[in-house]
Amino acid sequence: MTLTDNRFTLGGVDMLRLVEEFGSPVYVYDAATIERQYKRLDAAFAGIEHEIKYACKALTNVNILSFIRRIGGGLDTVSLNELHLGLKAGFEPNNIFYTPNNVSFSEVQEAIALGARLNLDNLPMLEKLGQTYGGSVPVCVRINPHIMAGGNEKISTGHINSKFGISMTQVDAIVRVQEKYGLDIAGLHMHTGSEIVDTDIFLQGAQILLEAGRRFKTLRFFDFGGGFKVPYKPDDNETNVEELGSRLAVLCHEEMKHRGNSFYVCFEPGKYLVSEAGMLLARVNVVKQTPATTFAGVDTGLNHLIRPMFYKAYHHITNISNPHGAVRPYSVAGYICETDNFAWDREMAEIREGDVLAFHNAGAYGIMMASNYNSRPRPAEVFIVNGKAHLIRRRETLDDLLRTQILLDI
Ligand code: LLP
Repeated sequence: MTLTDNRFTLGGVDMLRLVEEFGSPVYVYDAATIERQYKRLDAAFAGIEHEIKYACKALTNVNILSFIRRIGGGLDTVSLNELHLGLKAGFEPNNIFYTPNNVSFSEVQEAIALGARLNLDNLPMLEKLGQTYGGSVPVCVRINPHIMAGGNEKISTGHINSKFGISMTQVDAIVRVQEKYGLDIAGLHMHTGSEIVDTDIFLQGAQILLEAGRRFKTLRFFDFGGGFKVPYKPDDNETNVEELGSRLAVLCHEEMKHRGNSFYVCFEPGKYLVSEAGMLLARVNVVKQTPATTFAGVDTGLNHLIRPMFYKAYHHITNISNPHGAVRPYSVAGYICETDNFAWDREMAEIREGDVLAFHNAGAYGIMMASNYNSRPRPAEVFIVNGKAHLIRRRETLDDLLRTQILLDI
């Protein structure tokens, strides 16, 4: 987002014009930012053969998926529908990982039939795979390394109480299932959390995974998951991916010497690729003074961007209608009949009724976690490519809300 002559632009497009053209609220995504992030990560891991699989749960619009395919990425999916969206976006099935948790074996079988690469995270499922397919379907196994990583406990997934992965203490059991059925264990995987800033923690997990890998001669790759942190606040910290990349390359090359064979590595970034590329634009309906604060009430809420309420996540907010207004504290709140505060007493340029606010870092887990609560339709999505804004999802309507309801004649 750039400020020139009193107007904010995103990807070269005037942001207020976006609201005039597509209505409010609206999610907008900038292709150039996604590409910048992809290239930076790709360069950071240049010291080792690698694949970048976009964890598409962050944002699955097929246009975003096909853009990521065009710039060279693969996909990580967690449901059959994500897998189907990936295929629709033109990914080859063998460029799509299927990393489910607590799904039925029939879902796994459907993913196999579609040709996706399997990543399984429980022993009963590995048994079923062996019983049904012997060693004919290569499989990656998700290990839980028992480390606490990531921004907070809600988004940490590799600790001892986490439902994800097979415990690092159960590697013997994995070996037994492999021997029993001749399983082709092609890779080991970990994903320990989101917003991991500390490269030491990341490497600690990687070390555990590499050591577990010594029990499996069949391995061709290690998948170190996603979780790279991007800045959310001005001057916020972020994962130093360059440092991580060079330290990880050293670790992996040492391990290759130890194993006597080479392997490649995979990463599954979600936020890193799309968080900063997205903005949610919303209009101020009401400015209201209370004894406690000044509320700016907007035409969106926890139904469209739940991260501040669900994770206490900070999302920076810019009043794009009044770039040079006098700065004073505002509390920004949604229109949902719940307490859906986006910010409390935050210093912002003077807010007037009708102004448009931009919520930053809305590309990842924004619209994907949106709902129809209070029977509000979900916003439109717009994708900016080469200086041009394209509508990539229309705003929902009352008819969309009624579409799945069955009206009884009783
Ligand atoms: N790989 C696996 C297996 C995952 O479960 C996830 C995220 C990722 C990769 C990508 O993680 P990322 O690079 O985006 O941090 N809704 C939460 C984040 C939950 C992440 C779930 N899994 C949020 O809005 O912060």
